[in-house]
Amino acid sequence: MNSGNIRQKFLMFFKERGHSIVPSSSLVPDDASVLLTTAGMQQFKKYFTGELDPVKDFKSKNTVSVQKCFRTSDIDEVGDESHLTFFEMLGNFSFGGPDASGKVGASYWKKEAIQYGYEFFTKVMKLDIDYVTVFDPVKVLAGDWRKGVLFDEESYAIWKKILPESKIRRAGVDNFWGPTGNEGPCGPTTEIYISGLEIWNIVFNQFYCDASKKLTPLKIQGVDTGMGLERLAMVAQKKKNIFETDLFEPIVAKLPAGIDERIGRIFADHIRGIAFLISDGVRPSNKETGYVLRRLMRRLMVYGVGWAMEPLFEVLAKHYPSEYKLSSRIITDVYRMECEKFSKTLSQGLRELERLETVSAVSAFKLYESFGLPYEIIKERGGRKADELTREAFDAEFKKHQEISRAGQGKKFGGHGLLLDTGELKAKDEAELKKVTRLHTATHMLQQALREVLGQDVKQMGSDITALRTRFDFTFPRKLTPEEIKKVEALVNEKIKENLPIQKAVLPKAEAEKTGALYFFKEKYPDPVNVYFIGRDLNSAWSKEFCGGPHVTHTGEIGKFKIIKEEAVGAGIRRVRGIVIP
Ligand code: SER
Repeated sequence: MNSGNIRQKFLMFFKERGHSIVPSSSLVPDDASVLLTTAGMQQFKKYFTGELDPVKDFKSKNTVSVQKCFRTSDIDEVGDESHLTFFEMLGNFSFGGPDASGKVGASYWKKEAIQYGYEFFTKVMKLDIDYVTVFDPVKVLAGDWRKGVLFDEESYAIWKKILPESKIRRAGVDNFWGPTGNEGPCGPTTEIYISGLEIWNIVFNQFYCDASKKLTPLKIQGVDTGMGLERLAMVAQKKKNIFETDLFEPIVAKLPAGIDERIGRIFADHIRGIAFLISDGVRPSNKETGYVLRRLMRRLMVYGVGWAMEPLFEVLAKHYPSEYKLSSRIITDVYRMECEKFSKTLSQGLRELERLETVSAVSAFKLYESFGLPYEIIKERGGRKADELTREAFDAEFKKHQEISRAGQGKKFGGHGLLLDTGELKAKDEAELKKVTRLHTATHMLQQALREVLGQDVKQMGSDITALRTRFDFTFPRKLTPEEIKKVEALVNEKIKENLPIQKAVLPKAEAEKTGALYFFKEKYPDPVNVYFIGRDLNSAWSKEFCGGPHVTHTGEIGKFKIIKEEAVGAGIRRVRGIVIP
């Protein structure tokens, strides 16, 4: 069965059982507690906690999805038979715990979840289960925060009716899932194994885990399951490893001849990761998701196959269903620009690495800082010399430097109480603050105008405002035409003339999101959050954004707005500088 068929069969199996099909969410989640989407449940977190209502949003208490996922935690494992950074996760979900009504769309609990799992495997996929595992605290170390959770007797008893007891095993923390990020829903799991490989993880969300690792029972019990499409394809297609499945076939066929097996697998994995991250708006940088992407790209380049990989993006774009919106042109542009940038320092960095006798965390960090060599490259290329180097030590060094540079920044702008949390506004006295405030409101208006003129794909990638000008970065694939620039300016100036009020609404985050207010995805906004809107009321407002302020009270105070420069700052990212004339 090919992977396209598996996706379809999975979705249909659960659709027939009252589940609503929900499209994959972006790899860049709407959730400040995590960097990237690592599981299908992520987009449903608020349905497990009861903050959102599944019946209202999906017309059912049950959903099913094929979710794009990315796990940085597995990056060092990539190269073996079954680990990946990017993968697709098949999952069925139920929000609401046991419901005896038997109605289609009613929520369900352990019995149905296990039964569905068993049926899908044996009847649809026609596969034999090796064994299953259930949670037992006996297997958990003393002192662990999960030690107090009770043995999952219920799951054990359900399986006992289906499988011989010899196929039911007990396990500890491996059979407890979550929370993602610092806090959230979590609970015991039961896992299905085939050929010694974990294929399906069925999670019973029973608890809410807070930041101090305290567990309280969830009011709404939920089912969250996850099964890697690549692994399922591997067992269904009777392959020895995931790279032999149809999902990887076209990529593997195009890898350079004679390439080392492990490295070939790393390439195959990273190529997909790069394509999907870029398609979801990530651009290489030294921060957060941008750095994850940069590491994947640089690893390919180090092996001297950077350029050779380009045709693969086209192969991938054709290979994946159109709803994934892979654009080989954008991916290639971003990739090429990074290659050009890095090739200059790469050989210097590798030479420096060769010169070292041993590689400590300190020297590894220096190589990163001066030449951009990421940890995994230093580790791999350093060979025996880097034996002692661990990721933990490298990360600790990284963090130390970040803290030092942050403290330096604080000094530069501190003392006036004017530097705002976001770090995007810079002013050193009252007079400057007034100018910055005008430009800040103008920046909100600029974003809205850009979206109106260029389309909704315009997404903020950063901003920086001083007393002299605003600088705004956003996603857009090409240079703006002079006419477009004029239109944007004219729209901002028209709204300035209307002298619209700027007001603030303080809203719970979930509600604020529903207003359609824009937000810059990686900033960690508090809950409740301030929504600044330009217009008479929130509903009809022309511009709405999550924001910390400050703003002018009426647009008329801004003066005249002018764009003074438009340029590229990366593939698919444009930068506009604007000023206001009083
Ligand atoms: N959230 C669980 C996992 O990621 C099941 O979907 O494994």
